[in-house]
Amino acid sequence: MKEISITQPDDWHLHVRDGAALLSSVPFTARQFKRAIIMPNLAKPVVNVEMALAYRNRILDATPQNIMFDPLMTLYLTNKTSREGIKQASQSKHVHAAKLYPAGATTNSDKGVSKIDDLWPVFEQMEIEQLPLLVHAEVTDTDIDIFDREQVFIDLHLSSIREAFPELPIVLEHATTAQAVEFVKNYKHTAATLTPQHLLFNRNALLVGGIQPHNYCLPILKRETHREALITAATSGDPKFFLGTDSAPHTKQAKENSCGCAGCFTAHAAMELYTEIFDAEDALDKLEAFSSFYGADFYRLPRNKSTITLIKKEWQAPKSYPFAEHSIVPFRHEQALQWQIAD
Ligand code: DOR
Ligand code: ZN
Repeated sequence: MKEISITQPDDWHLHVRDGAALLSSVPFTARQFKRAIIMPNLAKPVVNVEMALAYRNRILDATPQNIMFDPLMTLYLTNKTSREGIKQASQSKHVHAAKLYPAGATTNSDKGVSKIDDLWPVFEQMEIEQLPLLVHAEVTDTDIDIFDREQVFIDLHLSSIREAFPELPIVLEHATTAQAVEFVKNYKHTAATLTPQHLLFNRNALLVGGIQPHNYCLPILKRETHREALITAATSGDPKFFLGTDSAPHTKQAKENSCGCAGCFTAHAAMELYTEIFDAEDALDKLEAFSSFYGADFYRLPRNKSTITLIKKEWQAPKSYPFAEHSIVPFRHEQALQWQIAD
């Protein structure tokens, strides 16, 4: 039996939703991660410090009592975000970044940014405050093929933001393409989070043998050459690439629908999945830094002191978990998982 102990990891990209759903979602993450960057795309987006602090308290209320979990909050950028709002955010010890959602790109992004160029004063303030800009890097133009949306966003928007604000910390969230990997490697102060679904699957997992709604997320899964580029980035020991699950719970009913929601629920087995991925690449020696060091270093936060142990022992995730008054289908439950976290 194989076993590996690592510094306790953090999740640098997570959705936990709100209200009754928090009691279902938060414990899965708090069980394994010490901290998580909490995405602000609620139905009513988290657009200021006051909302972020109130949301943080609701998350803490849903955290099991015996666990020390630290939700790291983010603000949702809109057309109305001001320099003053950024100054306030950077003064709060609980707000760690601001997220750019192009309007219409994904779940609850309708109040996102419709003219990115108008936000340049905000980016300038973020650069001054050293508040990281987290980017959902996809264009929304209806004439752009959905498989090209990340690359086109990099070419049309991210490159110019990057060049204009060279000292601004930028995270290209849930990178899915070889172009994204190259972009991140080429610039200072630029990093990317990588999800389990994009490391494990290519777009066949969406479409072969019938539509697989639980593998549908945004940015959408890409072809195999891109997955291979992500695997190389994750296992190369390059500190620009770190763990971010993008676990994005939607009810079974919302996923198995004629217009199904985007998002894979991976929090139930996040470290188990990453460990399996690194093991398959013979790169378990790179897992700890990817999961527990590089993200903290990028955000200029201390590395965790506690440890977790993973054991190579098959287990089967259930077909569904309760989720508020509904149920949720966990990602990759169809196949036995290879690793589990020791108690
Ligand atoms: O698949 C996704 N789901 N991608 C996102 O960018 C948002 C997320 C969600 O909140 O459901
Ligand atoms: Zn996300």
